[in-house]
Amino acid sequence: MRDEWLDSSHPSFLIPRFMLVHIIFAVFVLMALLGDVRIFLFVLNRAVFGSHREEQTPWGWLTYTVPPLLLILTALFWPLNRWMEQLMSTPFVESITPERLGEMPWSIALAKIGAAWLIIAAAVGGYWLLERIRVLAFPEPPLVGIRTQPSEVVRLRKEHIPFAILRRLGAHNDVYDIEITRHEVIVDDLPPRFDGYRIAFLTDTHVASFVRRDFYREIVAQVQLFDPDAVLLGGDFVTWRRHIRLMAEVLLSDLRARDGIFAILGNHDYWAGPDEVMSAMSAKGVQFITNRSVTLSRDGETLPLLGIDEMYRGTPDVMRAFEGVGPDEPCIAVSHHPDIIDLLGGRRIDLLACGHTHGGQIRLPFFGALVVPSRHEGEFAAGFHRVGRVLMYVSRGIGAIPPVRILCRPEVATFTLRRGHRMS
Ligand SMILES: [Fe+2]
Repeated sequence: MRDEWLDSSHPSFLIPRFMLVHIIFAVFVLMALLGDVRIFLFVLNRAVFGSHREEQTPWGWLTYTVPPLLLILTALFWPLNRWMEQLMSTPFVESITPERLGEMPWSIALAKIGAAWLIIAAAVGGYWLLERIRVLAFPEPPLVGIRTQPSEVVRLRKEHIPFAILRRLGAHNDVYDIEITRHEVIVDDLPPRFDGYRIAFLTDTHVASFVRRDFYREIVAQVQLFDPDAVLLGGDFVTWRRHIRLMAEVLLSDLRARDGIFAILGNHDYWAGPDEVMSAMSAKGVQFITNRSVTLSRDGETLPLLGIDEMYRGTPDVMRAFEGVGPDEPCIAVSHHPDIIDLLGGRRIDLLACGHTHGGQIRLPFFGALVVPSRHEGEFAAGFHRVGRVLMYVSRGIGAIPPVRILCRPEVATFTLRRGHRMS
């Protein structure tokens, strides 16, 4: 009996060996499918949604061609599987004789492609898994110079997910759950009179007629409750031209700030009609600071606030925006797209408010945000990031296209500037 188990040609020995091979193979295929998803997201984020100037992306066809191509490549594992099965069903030495291999030339050709793709895609999938585990197990230490208080959530939602059983599992659409985030930003040499200066930041409102009006009313009310010195507006005010007047009405009729409301445009505003957006908003008192700076004043002390045009659809001119701002002077800035960080060339910005990403809109518990239209993909999907001498805050914004947000609430971001030493 003992000899039978040791004899590799005996059928009873082949069963566990088969099982082991199949398990390893199944894991490889699963990892490869995960890798396919990651490769598709890479193409989607960087090429399809990432950096195009026109409303209709010239790379839209990749959305329909890349997934089947990846699946076909991965499906080539099947001949490989068959080949391995036949290889394993015969004693090892016998199975690698030229005669045996010659029986399946077609299979071997496909198997080579299948094997190569399995290794590549599985490596990508495996790396993604390990990277997510690393991020979750060893989160980055909180950035120095920021104090974030617990946020408040105003839930206006009703039942957006159609099945009660899904709602009980916690699946619901966050589109009407407004989160008011509260941050203190410590600036080393902030002019003393600006200690306690309050900035509210609204972005990506994507105002549309099918969204409930009380949603916009609540957002404006929350900004007014914060009692801001300045309101910054980060662009993408509308998705469609026909909603420009509605946007100005619901968003700006009751929005007030001591020093004013300052805005730059987003890519969707350019597509909807930049002149109409600007004139409708200017009529309500909004000041556009596209590629220029304004000076905020408090009892003779000043703080520059500058705006940089949208990264891809606009014409960002960083030199012009920084005109008159000293290289080591504290300043605040607003720009629509977080990719603007690549154009700043080592300049100092103590708070750069951005939007555009919507935080990814749909976030999965382990994988986080999947679709983030940025050259940096999910790296700058939301929150604070210190890059060189810039402290960037990416807001999840207000609106959503399509109107679905999972684990990613709309956000009214509020900041209080603090004079202090941030020890970095
Ligand atoms: Fe945008």
